Amino acid sequence: MNPPQRILLTGRNGQLGTECGLIIPAECEVIAVDFPEFDLADADVLAKTVRDVQPDMLLHTAAWTAVDKAEEHEAEAFAINATATEVLASCMAALGGRMVYVSTDYVFSGEGDVPWREDDAVAPLNAYGRTKLAGEQAMAAHLGDRGHVVRTSWLYGRCGANFVRTMLNLMSSGRALKVVEDQVGSPTWAGGLAHALFALARASDAPPILHFTDEGIVSWFDFAVAIRDCGLDNGLALEDSSVNACSGSEYPTPAARPSWSPMHFSNAWDDLGISPSNWKQALHEALPLLLQEDAKTA
Ligand SMILES: NC(=O)c1ccc[n+]([C@@H]2O[C@H](COP(=O)([O-])OP(=O)(O)OC[C@H]3O[C@@H](n4cnc5c(N)ncnc54)[C@H](OP(=O)(O)O)[C@@H]3O)[C@@H](O)[C@H]2O)c1
Repeated sequence: MNPPQRILLTGRNGQLGTECGLIIPAECEVIAVDFPEFDLADADVLAKTVRDVQPDMLLHTAAWTAVDKAEEHEAEAFAINATATEVLASCMAALGGRMVYVSTDYVFSGEGDVPWREDDAVAPLNAYGRTKLAGEQAMAAHLGDRGHVVRTSWLYGRCGANFVRTMLNLMSSGRALKVVEDQVGSPTWAGGLAHALFALARASDAPPILHFTDEGIVSWFDFAVAIRDCGLDNGLALEDSSVNACSGSEYPTPAARPSWSPMHFSNAWDDLGISPSNWKQALHEALPLLLQEDAKTA
């Protein structure tokens, strides 16, 4: 019998890292790490961790994800998203291992009308996008075909801060909400992405860049309406809340957001036995899990 594949998972307590930790396949042994004992800003700690764990595969989900804060702190975000990725990739190259780096739709300009393909030109609009793109490039430079970028968008998991939880909290206060209608993309349930990442980790052959989102193209406004409907279906008292559409210009943020984010679901997933989930169906399955998590911490 083959020994289990040894996987080092970063971002253990993040949205995606949590979902990965909940579905570890029997044939994988996962060593999961997170801040503060594993600090992406400390190159020595990164090198020591890889040396100690000797992973076959590094699933790198940890990142600086504070998109607006990155505008004023780009150097710090770069250190976490790009420099640390470079260090990790060079350590994995030295071991002869493989690596998966989770990236974002924010590497694209947002000016488009068909879903982004893996080889479309990148042109990030904001600092976070620039630092994530630099991370993609650093990994590719060190690992070549042993490194895989998985770009996703509008991610939400059962834990942590995300759009679904924020909307539910605001809606339960009975407020009238304004939600942006002229930015469109595809929500992604982190549990589905976690399954895809383990399938990729076990694959013997996969392309350097893959796109993974749930299926469907919606605006933030559409997503918010669906969250409200789903919350009502789950017995939440959201009857007094209302959701109204507004334009992005009515809701300015420090970091510019792309208007057009949908990405083509990579054909390569088919070979790995992974198919896309409908975004609304995924939301209906995920929302009770978010609510269970909230009940635990209430
Ligand atoms: N969220 C989205 O909508 C979205 C969209 C597209 C792509 N992505 C990408 O998907 C991946 C997963 O995102 P997510 O939403 O799961 O992120 P998340 O919930 O913000 O989790 C990020 C994780 O990284 C850890 N981290 C941050 N700074 C660190 C540091 N200096 N050293 C070590 N660990 C550190 C965090 O630890 P602490 O909690 O202790 O800080 C947390 O566990 C990321 O690569 C992100 O760029 C996310």
